[in-house]
Amino acid sequence: MTESHPKNVFESKHPLVRHKVTILRQTDTGVRRFREVVWELVGLLAYEALADLTLAGKEIMTPLARTTGQVLTERVALVPILRAGLGMVDPIWNLLPEAQIGHIGLYRDEETLEPVEYYSKLPPASQVDICLLLDPMLATGGSAVAACNILKRSGIERIKYLGLIAAPEGIARLHEAHPDVHIHLAAADCCLNDRGYIVPGLGDAGDRLFGTKVDEAERIPPAEA
Ligand code: PRP
Ligand code: URA
Repeated sequence: MTESHPKNVFESKHPLVRHKVTILRQTDTGVRRFREVVWELVGLLAYEALADLTLAGKEIMTPLARTTGQVLTERVALVPILRAGLGMVDPIWNLLPEAQIGHIGLYRDEETLEPVEYYSKLPPASQVDICLLLDPMLATGGSAVAACNILKRSGIERIKYLGLIAAPEGIARLHEAHPDVHIHLAAADCCLNDRGYIVPGLGDAGDRLFGTKVDEAERIPPAEA
């Protein structure tokens, strides 16, 4: 685990985050629990990542007195990278119900490990002050760099990347390509294996979130007609 990171790279030090990442990593954490823990972790990470949101004063009446409260002034957009990033939307959308949601569809070519773009639908840049780019896994960094390129081409400039687990290769590639992007992580791991998977990691985040990898030995055969 990396202890010191470049400027704009933030690995959570919170004990709750470390505890919950350990649950996610375990092979015997099933789909339902995995989704719950992703939800909890993303809430904690968003809390840390959004600590610099700006506020404006607002005059309000309580049942007892007039007072000055504070309200958020910046419009936040949430942009998951499909498909695993989808599992990170709802916990933040619950906190920020006014947020607009964009989608970027990318998958990693299994041979080259480079991202292939297949979909993109973003809110207008004129309506976004800050964009949270969501993807649980930062492996080679190809997908995150491509997603930031897409966001910036659309005019969205202020980006914070929220991820659960990252490899040093991915952190370095994203930071080098987009040094202005703040990178918030639950954990920075040791390395990538020869198939581009993060080690120790948690396996394939999309498959674990959506239950799409069933061991052949466990597959339930379709009912006979
Ligand atoms: C995973 C993950 C990232 C990407 C990270 O998605 O969710 O998007 O790989 O790898 P990289 O840093 O090397 O680009 P995947 O392509 O497996 O698609 P999925 O979300 O549809 O499962
Ligand atoms: N994508 C994943 O889901 N997991 C990894 O370890 C690498 C890329």
